[in-house]
Amino acid sequence: MSDFNFESLIVDIPDYPEPGVVFKDITPLFADPDGLRETVVTIADHFRDAGITKVVGPEARGFIVGVPVAMELGAGFIPARKPGKLPRDTYSVSYELEYGTDSLEIHKDAIKPGDKVLIVDDLIATGGTAAATGKLVQQIGAELVGFACILELQFLNPRTTLAESGNHDVFSLIKVS
Ligand code: PRP
Ligand code: MG
Repeated sequence: MSDFNFESLIVDIPDYPEPGVVFKDITPLFADPDGLRETVVTIADHFRDAGITKVVGPEARGFIVGVPVAMELGAGFIPARKPGKLPRDTYSVSYELEYGTDSLEIHKDAIKPGDKVLIVDDLIATGGTAAATGKLVQQIGAELVGFACILELQFLNPRTTLAESGNHDVFSLIKVS
């Protein structure tokens, strides 16, 4: 694990987007050349020997982190998109938000049953988005190797939700307790 100070490039924004919530703004980390590279390389290093063939990133912030991690691992990148954005046959999964539900879709032929898949996002909070993305991968019959993110909000117990789809490696650069 890198000894880079990732926290120093993440800015807490109190009461955003609503009172009582502290928003973790990671855009300064992406804007910093060393921060960006350390983020990508540290995540990739953790999974470098896992034989990952595809990285899946949930729209939208999962694209930012997922694409460079895929390149660093020599893997392909697959977007899991919000509804109605993909032009060909898709699998779809719905998941719970604090208020209501949302969905993600993936092209049916984007991943093959023999693929070894890593799911990458910026943030794992409740784990709902990551778990839903994992269900899409498993629906295709591919091997879900694990989940990676920059920030894990431990106090929301996301690993309980992620464990519902099996025992997978969960790697985060920063755990917020
Ligand atoms: C945010 C974040 C993660 C998700 C984490 O995405 O980028 O994908 O929430 O929350 P969860 O673990 O409780 O599911 P958001 O849905 O806000 O969309 P965005 O990536 O398009 O900004
Ligand atoms: Mg997101």
